[in-house]
Amino acid sequence: MAKREQWGSRIGFVIAAIGSAIGLGNIWRFPYMAYDNGGGAFLIPYFFAMLTAGIPIIILEFAVGHKYKGSAPMSFAKAKEKWEWLGWWQVFISFIISIYYVVVIAWALNYTLLAFNLGWGEDTKGFFFTKFLHITSSPMEWGNIVWPIFTATVILWFINWLVLFSGIKKGIEFANKIFMPLLFILLIIMLGRAITLDGATKGLQWLFRPDFSAILNYKVWTAAYGQIFFSLSICFGIMITYASYLPEKSDINNNGMITTFINCGFSILAGITIFSVLGYMATKQGVSVKDVAGAGVGLAFVTIPKAINLLPGAKFFGTLFFLALVFAGLSSMISITETCVSGLMDKFKWDRKPTTSLFCVVGFLLSLIFTTQGGLLILDIVDHFINNFGIVFAGLIEIILLSWFFNLDSLREHANSISDFSVGKWWNFCLKILTPIVLGYMAIANLIGDIKKPYGGYPTSGVLIFGWAVVIGIVILSFVMQMGHSFNNKK
Ligand code: PHE
Repeated sequence: MAKREQWGSRIGFVIAAIGSAIGLGNIWRFPYMAYDNGGGAFLIPYFFAMLTAGIPIIILEFAVGHKYKGSAPMSFAKAKEKWEWLGWWQVFISFIISIYYVVVIAWALNYTLLAFNLGWGEDTKGFFFTKFLHITSSPMEWGNIVWPIFTATVILWFINWLVLFSGIKKGIEFANKIFMPLLFILLIIMLGRAITLDGATKGLQWLFRPDFSAILNYKVWTAAYGQIFFSLSICFGIMITYASYLPEKSDINNNGMITTFINCGFSILAGITIFSVLGYMATKQGVSVKDVAGAGVGLAFVTIPKAINLLPGAKFFGTLFFLALVFAGLSSMISITETCVSGLMDKFKWDRKPTTSLFCVVGFLLSLIFTTQGGLLILDIVDHFINNFGIVFAGLIEIILLSWFFNLDSLREHANSISDFSVGKWWNFCLKILTPIVLGYMAIANLIGDIKKPYGGYPTSGVLIFGWAVVIGIVILSFVMQMGHSFNNKK
């Protein structure tokens, strides 16, 4: 079998891992999560989750990928043959995410062009939902394909295909070395402008205003953990895959920490930028920040455009903002799809080029569902279920298996033996005890919540098909994948 591809340099790997971590989640999800969950007080559970779950798990996944030199299914199969399905489960989760994540980037790409002449007009909400998405009233009513979104989706899948097709070093590493520096430059320009706006401090006070009663609310903790997992791309098989392309002699512990700190730092800077702008908008309109901030999709595509309209140099900053979303999104999209391609290549001994082409065509065709008029509604359901069940359960099972039914110390020793510095027993404690308790609690609380009340007030059929059927279906498929011929060249 051909030798496994490798990163060209240490920085190439770290920049790709950071590229995966920094995504749409940092720019629109972090700010409203912090805002919704007690502002400044959210940062306490957030940093707690970062230190006790984020860093230990990223090191764990780097160690697993590096030790077994395989995609998620292959690495788990090499650890214990019976565990291959867990890797496939993570691959399927990544696959589902990839087919809708690309469509959100497609909206951002459209908005980048619209920003040239502030094409979203004054009524940004009406524009987004009606004129842009042509949204229907139910996820079961798909309507037609929306052509501008379709076109952007084609372009993005094409870029993604080109990058993966070109391989680890010439494709993924190269693309990230372009996207990431550009993204940081964009952020710094926007940050510099935002904090000097009139009323910026008003926004920041809202973002960082500590509401300590929130700390006692379990939902705030769930949100903080969820944000860390989503944002660091952990428990999706992604970091295992990226680490599998590391050369024999590579640092793991320090790289894991660097990735985590840069990712979380980026989130905070993005939060400061967005809330400064919201503070400015609130001041201009003479209302409170609470009245202008919006949640979720609405924040990036409704509230921000509205705020941009009021900025001096609106067209310029509008373009920068949406371009930043595109760069951040694309580098994450690349990692999500590489996880799938790599799994298939390892399992069937296929070559990179045909595997990438096949995968991107299938992925693109399935993405079309989200480019229809019902797309956003379906996306909202799929995203909720994948985040609340797929990731939480797959993460919980990964951590329990590796820390209780495997020699966790052997992984720590493996990481320590090649790293710049060593991690101590605290690492085992976080993985064995602390994180499973919190994740286990989250898993059960989410399950009860969703069984009691169908998500988001959607029709039951929509929730059953796009929610439950998807999350349960991919578990079944994972076992099917495990049944095929096993990975040879075991260690
Ligand atoms: N971590 C990235 C983000 O914050 C991308 C990502 C999201 C990766 C979901 C995997 C799953 O957007």
